[in-house]
Amino acid sequence: MNTIQEILLTEEQISTRVQELGAQISADYQGKDLVLVGILKGAICFFSDLIRKVSIPVNVDFMAVSSYGSSYQTSGAVRILKDLDLPIEGRHVLIVEDIVDTGLTLSYLKKNLLSRNPASLKVAALLDKPERRQVDEHADYLGFTIPDEFVVGYGIDYAEQYRSLPYVAILSPSAYLGS
Ligand code: IMP
Repeated sequence: MNTIQEILLTEEQISTRVQELGAQISADYQGKDLVLVGILKGAICFFSDLIRKVSIPVNVDFMAVSSYGSSYQTSGAVRILKDLDLPIEGRHVLIVEDIVDTGLTLSYLKKNLLSRNPASLKVAALLDKPERRQVDEHADYLGFTIPDEFVVGYGIDYAEQYRSLPYVAILSPSAYLGS
């Protein structure tokens, strides 16, 4: 069974956009103490490509969160599986996330990190699915706006599969609805 319905973003498209975002971030944070916070595991590819396109010195750290609910629909309740190692008080923090979908995960993460008093807090997201938004959240640095489809690849999974695909693809609904 072919579970990939369509390639939505090719390696080349992603690489070009990540380079642009890296240049923009480098310019905006010039001279600032910047901590890039990758959100595990979906952002792994975006994070590792992006930091290599940021030309200013940065610190990197990770958080792992899991949302309660089924594997393809978030419930809004978020649990921290791994917290930051670094202190962020007084520092400029950029969350690096894979997808902003309902926005509930981001809303939780921002509230949590803001309570630690960073100098600033912004968000870089590879993908945005605005059609499904439930709260008023957005990425300050965005790779691509995509339609309301379930996507995998470039770090993004369905049930821990497909993360190693070098592109972003729409998963065939038969892969998760069963047919
Ligand atoms: P939100 O809280 O609804 O914004 O969900 C954000 C998280 O849900 C993302 O970080 C992803 O981990 C997951 N997610 C949302 N859409 C997709 C998708 O199309 N494929 C895989 N994971 C997704």
